[in-house]
Amino acid sequence: MTAAFPAPAWLVGCGNMAGAMVDGWRRAGVDLSGVTVIRPSGTPVEGVRTVTTYPDEVPHFVMLGFKPQKLAEIAPPLSEHVGPATTLVSMLAGVTIEDLRHRFPDAAAIAKIMPNLPVAVGEGVVPILADGETGGVEALMAALGTVVPCQSEQDVAAIGALASAGSAYFARFAEAMGKGGAGQGLDPETAQRLAVQAMLGTAAYARDRKISMAELARRVASPKGTTERGLAMLDAPDGLQALVDRTLEAAVRRGRELAEEVRRG
Ligand SMILES: NC(=O)c1ccc[n+]([C@@H]2O[C@H](COP(=O)([O-])OP(=O)(O)OC[C@H]3O[C@@H](n4cnc5c(N)ncnc54)[C@H](OP(=O)(O)O)[C@@H]3O)[C@@H](O)[C@H]2O)c1
Repeated sequence: MTAAFPAPAWLVGCGNMAGAMVDGWRRAGVDLSGVTVIRPSGTPVEGVRTVTTYPDEVPHFVMLGFKPQKLAEIAPPLSEHVGPATTLVSMLAGVTIEDLRHRFPDAAAIAKIMPNLPVAVGEGVVPILADGETGGVEALMAALGTVVPCQSEQDVAAIGALASAGSAYFARFAEAMGKGGAGQGLDPETAQRLAVQAMLGTAAYARDRKISMAELARRVASPKGTTERGLAMLDAPDGLQALVDRTLEAAVRRGRELAEEVRRG
C-alpha cells in the first residue's frame, strides 16, 4: 500500500516528535498538501499548513502529537470533530486505546503508535496497536522506517522503552563514551564526535553483515586483548545489563503511572 494521507488530515500538536515525523514524510516524498498542523503557538512547520484553531472541515485523519497531560483539556472540544469518517492516531505515551476510545467514541478506528526521533531520517521504529481498520496508517508509518504491528499495550510500552525512549539511552551511552575518551586525554568535542561515528558505524556494520551483537563483539575482542579487558567491566554481574534492565523497567513503570494519571484527569 502506498503512503498517502486520507485528507483532510490534522496533526494536533507538532513539536519534537510529530515534527520529526513530518520531516520523515517530506523526505520520503509523501504528499502533505491535505495536511494541517494545529498548534497554539502557530509556529510554522515546513511544508505543512499551520493554524491555531480547528479548521471548518471534517478530518479523515487526526494525529495526537501533544503531551499526555494535555489530553483531558484537548479531547472534549476535539472529539466534536472526530466522527465515523475519522481515523485517530495517538503517540501519547502511556495513554491506552481503551482510554482513547472512551474520549473519542465516534472515531472509525484508533491506532496507538510510539515512534522515535530517527523517523526524521527514515530510520525510525514505529510500533502500532490498532483498534479497527487502520491499514493506511501502517503504510504512512512504513515511510518512516520499521513498523512493528503489536497485539497488546504491553508490547507497545516495551518497544517504546527500547526504541523510542531508547534513542535517549543510546545518546547517553554515546555521550558517556565521549566523556570516557576525554578522560583518556582526547579533546572532548572530538571524543564526542568519534563516539557517535563509532556507534553509527557499528550499527551499519552489524546491519550490513547481518551478524548478532555478540558476534560483532567477538570479532573485536581478541583473547587477552584490550577490548576483552574493557568488556569484562561491562559484563560484570552488576554491570551494563543490570543497568539497562533497570532503565527499561523504570520507563515502562512510568508509562503505567502516566496512564493512570491521565485516566484520573
Ligand atoms: N519526543 C519523543 O521522542 C517522543 C517519542 C514517542 C512519543 N512521544 C509522544 O509525543 C508527544 C509529544 O511529545 P514531544 O516531545 O513532541 O513534545 P513537544 O515537543 O513539547 O510538543 C508538544 C506539542 O503539543 C502542542 N500543544 C500544546 N498544547 C496544545 C493544544 N492545546 N492543542 C494542540 N496542540 C498543543 C505544542 O504546540 P506549540 O509548540 O504551539 O506550543 C507542541 O507542538 C507526547 O505525547 C509524547 O509521549 C514523544
